[in-house]
Amino acid sequence: MQTGLLNVLVNDRKLHPERMNPTVGRLREVLGAVAPGKAADIFDAHINKTAYQSNGNKFVYLTLAASKNLSVTLTKMLSAKEVKQVISLLQDADVSTKEAIDMHETYKIPVSRLEKDLVFVRADGVWLYDTLGNKYLDMDSNYSATNLGNENKEIALGLFNQASQLIATKEDRVHIPRARFLNEIHSMLPKELTQFYWQNSGGEAVDKSLKIAKAYTKQKGVIALKYGFHGRTHGAVAVTYNPAYRTPFLLDKEDWVYFIEPNDSAAVEKLFKEGKARIIIMELVQSEEAGVRPLDVGFVKKVRQLCDKYNAVMICDEVQTGFGRCAAKPSQWWASQTYGVVPDIMSIGKSFGGGYPVTAVVTKPKISAAMKPGYDGSTFGGNPMAMVAAYIATRQMREKDITANVVARSKQFKDGIENLKKQFPNLIGDIRILGLMIGFELSSKEAVVELQELLKEYNIHSSLSTDNSTDNAVRLLPPLIISAKEVDFTLKGIGQALKRL
Ligand SMILES: Cc1ncc(COP(=O)(O)O)c(C=O)c1O
Repeated sequence: MQTGLLNVLVNDRKLHPERMNPTVGRLREVLGAVAPGKAADIFDAHINKTAYQSNGNKFVYLTLAASKNLSVTLTKMLSAKEVKQVISLLQDADVSTKEAIDMHETYKIPVSRLEKDLVFVRADGVWLYDTLGNKYLDMDSNYSATNLGNENKEIALGLFNQASQLIATKEDRVHIPRARFLNEIHSMLPKELTQFYWQNSGGEAVDKSLKIAKAYTKQKGVIALKYGFHGRTHGAVAVTYNPAYRTPFLLDKEDWVYFIEPNDSAAVEKLFKEGKARIIIMELVQSEEAGVRPLDVGFVKKVRQLCDKYNAVMICDEVQTGFGRCAAKPSQWWASQTYGVVPDIMSIGKSFGGGYPVTAVVTKPKISAAMKPGYDGSTFGGNPMAMVAAYIATRQMREKDITANVVARSKQFKDGIENLKKQFPNLIGDIRILGLMIGFELSSKEAVVELQELLKEYNIHSSLSTDNSTDNAVRLLPPLIISAKEVDFTLKGIGQALKRL
């Protein structure tokens, strides 16, 4: 870590190959934040525009001589405390908030709505820091991908060591980090699910789950649930109900997908009986699109029975629900355990690598046996870096016993939100909680957006609902390491924000 002022004004590439010198935009932003009265003076009086340079791209930097001058000027004009703040903010980011947003707005293919309200640069456990050093309690976990918090020194060191040794090995080649990981992971899985196929995103894991299920059933029909969400690859979108995601890609008239209402086991049996489908895919807690909606236990158990009866494949998409998110008792790592069923195929991802991308299909040997060499393949699937992250992250989950924390914090949230409902009976509607997947309804979508905006004033960053979701639910997905004190902080903030709705 660089510490001196000159060290952050002139980046040492040996120490920080990932950074650049701060842009003029960032210097102005930081000085404006730390010493508002003096910022313009420092820049306009002491830095001549001839000191600006660019490498032909958009950003403008200071020359080496000007950076040295600025270092002397700042030391003279700012207090020691202010200098420390400048160093800290420049270490956090070398590009200004505006420049970062401009770059995204200029160059991003607009497949999604750009979230530019807060630009996070650093984290400490459940806390996220923005470009100006403001901190926010994370209630999103990057869509549930950072259950262990938003930074991880052990994973950082493991990745550094692995990248220094061997950075990439394709999926079909033997390597040591994967062997280490496989030796450990089975203690977290139902004993029937032993076979792995590695991927890099949840959508891919779902896609490959469908391929494997089709290879096994030798039938293309798939039952999917309305209001479910399974990702954005071609196959995952095809089984995701929301027409807004399927129609632009002409995936709204697929003859192999049958959408049914959640909890309608009669519809499942009918499709199995008629031979139209022998695969069913579902999220046990519909989250992204349904504002946290756990399926009925009776329905899930019935689907298990029907799959056994018709030799059909039950795919549980545990990309979001997995790795302890939905624990109702300690050591329930999967929502399917909480529901008391073992799926035939489980798609897992998100927090698998503690925030580093790694996902997988996990299945039973008899289903795995339907796949033959040449049926699939992946350059990056289960690469050494991913396996190192997964090995360390899953070990931490077990050692920290995060499911025990999920059970305790879930109850705290439930009691707290029920209490808020007593105080605000006209505002809060249905409350739906399983583990630390938390949803509570407000009267309208506008109210949800307004609450989310207000929560920022109480230093809480909540999970933004999908634009197209069918529900008016506020969704909270905190990192699973959240403490009792931090839950209290959240509940208090929500209470204060509700008063202003
Ligand atoms: C249940 C579920 N499945 C699949 C996905 C897709 O995962 P990814 O965005 O990593 O492709 C998501 C993402 O939100 C999800 O919630």
